[in-house]
Amino acid sequence: MGVLHKNYREMNHFEANDKLSKLIHTNHFLLPVINRFGIRLGFKDKSVKQVCEEQTINENFFLTIVNTYTNEDYFPEAELLKFSPLLIVDYLRKTHKYYFEYLFPEVERRLEKVLMGCKSNCQDLQLIKTFYEKYKIELSRHIEDEEDNVFPYVKALTETYEKGIPLNKEYDFYNMHSAEQEHTQVDQKIYDLKNIVLKYLTPTYNDNDCNAFLFAIFQFEKDLLDHARIEDKILVHKVMDIEKAVKNG
Ligand SMILES: [Fe+2]
Ligand SMILES: [Fe+2]
Repeated sequence: MGVLHKNYREMNHFEANDKLSKLIHTNHFLLPVINRFGIRLGFKDKSVKQVCEEQTINENFFLTIVNTYTNEDYFPEAELLKFSPLLIVDYLRKTHKYYFEYLFPEVERRLEKVLMGCKSNCQDLQLIKTFYEKYKIELSRHIEDEEDNVFPYVKALTETYEKGIPLNKEYDFYNMHSAEQEHTQVDQKIYDLKNIVLKYLTPTYNDNDCNAFLFAIFQFEKDLLDHARIEDKILVHKVMDIEKAVKNG
């Protein structure tokens, strides 16, 4: 919360009548988030309500995401959570795509620049690169598991719940709670990566390039934590409710 505008802490959460520009002034990290809803710049003085109506975006879903993303203590009221879990899955898939198409390449481009500017004893930097590459493989596996296993399960379960389509036998013993347990590990590793650079890297590189690399890692870490919160708090919560209804009902 430290990086956010103090006004956010003085209010409880964003509401439908708030201007979209106010959301961004309060928390500019929401820029890629609103892009995932198809919202681009040039929104003039329009409110959240107006933009959602114009672009046929589910307003409750939009507010749930921007508020969860902005405030780690926010938890939406049941009334707001009535949208389909498939909307969340679609949003999360777009976020994963953003990691592969933008954040990973951005971190790598900046790390390469630090490596290119290294004057001597560059082995430490090579170790950072190896650590990062291992981390990328681990995070990619986590994301692939969600894309290939968790999200199809959510889709099948939702279709059973909404349309009565029988749930495939393979899902009898699958459950959402155990499927989404790895976040702490993945989050810890990116913190470790930052920490190694901050504490142990011999400074034989260009300071500005290394700072730019760290800024990218900090941004990636923040996005990942907020993303994981949406998965844990919103998706898992909703899907567990549907599981109860489908499997016990
Ligand atoms: Fe994810
Ligand atoms: Fe995840």
